[in-house]
Amino acid sequence: MYKLIAFDAYGTLFDVYSVGALANELFPGRGQELSLMWRDRQIEYTRLVSMSDPNPKGSQYYLPFWELTMRSLRYVCKRMGLELTPQGEKRLMEQYARLTSFEDSLSVLKKIKERGIATAILSNGSREMLSTVVESNGLKPYLDKVVTVEDIRLFKTAPQAYELLLTTFPIKKEEVLFVSSNAWDALAARWFGYDVFWVNRLNHPFEEIGEKPNFEGKSLSEVLTFI
Ligand code: LAC
Repeated sequence: MYKLIAFDAYGTLFDVYSVGALANELFPGRGQELSLMWRDRQIEYTRLVSMSDPNPKGSQYYLPFWELTMRSLRYVCKRMGLELTPQGEKRLMEQYARLTSFEDSLSVLKKIKERGIATAILSNGSREMLSTVVESNGLKPYLDKVVTVEDIRLFKTAPQAYELLLTTFPIKKEEVLFVSSNAWDALAARWFGYDVFWVNRLNHPFEEIGEKPNFEGKSLSEVLTFI
């Protein structure tokens, strides 16, 4: 029996590619490519920061996820030869702050709470950006905690990031089910020792390294059948 269901935020509860439409309005025909490259570069920067100084007291290169998100947007626009005006950057970042949640995010959290199980977010996101996106999607009443890596200044997939759930909640590793749509995150959480549900919305193959997730489904709602 799981006592805590912990969710990744970006890509899992909130749709990171929902910025594509605005990106397409600003840069016609390039929106989808931009949102894909933006996401990849953002994650790449988190890895650079953590791996280049995996100090348990935090990386000296740490920058909040919000900042990395902005810098990766700037990089990707330059790389794609797109002129990002201060106004365009502001609009895209404002949109990012209020990404829309997936259609079942709220109902799944609500149903888990109704079963008396604790819920949390464990995210690379910075505290303020998480609080904005959680509130703008009405998820706050259904989350016991929003846990951010901001305090340890290391990003997932550093083990210290996954450990935050064990220092925040009075629970054992085996009582946690970690839910992510990002295969890299699912894989690393499994390496850390959590049971994992992988939300595979796009029917992707799983990674060729690491252990397979314990559970897999095409939508967030399917997690309810395993708890
Ligand atoms: C998160 C991103 C990286 O941690 O998916 O929420």
